[in-house]
Amino acid sequence: MNFRIPAPGLAFAAALSLLPVLRAVDIVAHRGASHDAPENTLAAQKLAWEQGADAVETDIHLTRDGKIVACHDQSTKRTTGRDARIADLTLAELRKLDAGSWKAAWFAGEKLPTLDEQIRLTPPGERLLVEIKVGPEIVPELARCLARNGANEQNITIISFNFDALLEVRKRLPRLPTLWLVGYRRPEAADTAPPPPSVDDMIRRATDAGLTGLDLQHNWPLTPADTRKIREAGLQLHVWTVDDPAVARHWIALGAASITTNRPGWLRDQLK
Ligand code: G3P
Ligand code: CA
Repeated sequence: MNFRIPAPGLAFAAALSLLPVLRAVDIVAHRGASHDAPENTLAAQKLAWEQGADAVETDIHLTRDGKIVACHDQSTKRTTGRDARIADLTLAELRKLDAGSWKAAWFAGEKLPTLDEQIRLTPPGERLLVEIKVGPEIVPELARCLARNGANEQNITIISFNFDALLEVRKRLPRLPTLWLVGYRRPEAADTAPPPPSVDDMIRRATDAGLTGLDLQHNWPLTPADTRKIREAGLQLHVWTVDDPAVARHWIALGAASITTNRPGWLRDQLK
C-alpha cells in the first residue's frame, strides 16, 4: 500500500520519479462509504471495507468530557437533528443521538462512533486516516486512545488542516505519518477565504515540520513540475475528495499515492 512507503530520501525520490506515471493508487473511503451509508458511522466504515477500500477517512472532535468522537461538523445538527456543539456535550449525551436516520430509515440507531470503536473495526493490515478537526488539545487523548488500542504507524495516519495540531502530533507521536490538508480556491475568487499557499511554501512548511506529505483538494492546479518538486522534497502526495473518474485519472497521472472518495467501490470499478 502506498501509505506504507516511508517518506523517501532525495536519492530514493529521484529513483521514484523514473517510475511509470500510471500506477496503483490507494482508495480512501471519505467518512467511510459515505455515498451509500451515513458518514462517519460504523455502518459507513464497515461498508467501506466491504467495498474494498484501502483506508477509511474519519473526522474527530473532543467532547465536553475529553473523549474523542467522530463527526464531520462541529455541530450535531446536520447528521443527528440535535442543534448542539460537540464540545458542549458529554460522550454519554452524544451517544444517545441517532446519526443514521438522516441518510435512510434503515440506518436508524447508528451512533456517533468513538475513535476506539473505529480502530477496533479496522481489519488487520488496513488503515484509518484520522482527521483532527480541532486543535492540538486533542493530541494527549489521541495518544492515550491509540495506546490502549495497540494502534500505531502501521494502521493510523493523521491528517489535518490545523498545522498546530500536526506539529503537536509530530512532537508527541513522532512515528505516525502526518499529511497536511490544504484546500484550494482560485486566487481571484471573490470570497473571504485566504488565498492558497504556493507549492514552494507548502513544501517548505511541510518539510520543516517533518510531515509525511500533502493531502490536497482535487481542484489544485498542480503541474507535473510541481509534483516532481513535492516528490524530490521527500513528501507524499494525496488528494481529496474525488468522485469523478476523469479527475481520479488526472491525479493518478500526477503521481498521487491515494485518492479519497465518497464512493470507494464504484470508483475502483471505474478505474479498472
Ligand atoms: O480527506 C480530507 C477531507 O475530508 C477534508 O475535507 O471537509 O471533508 O473534512 P472535509
Ligand atoms: Ca475529513
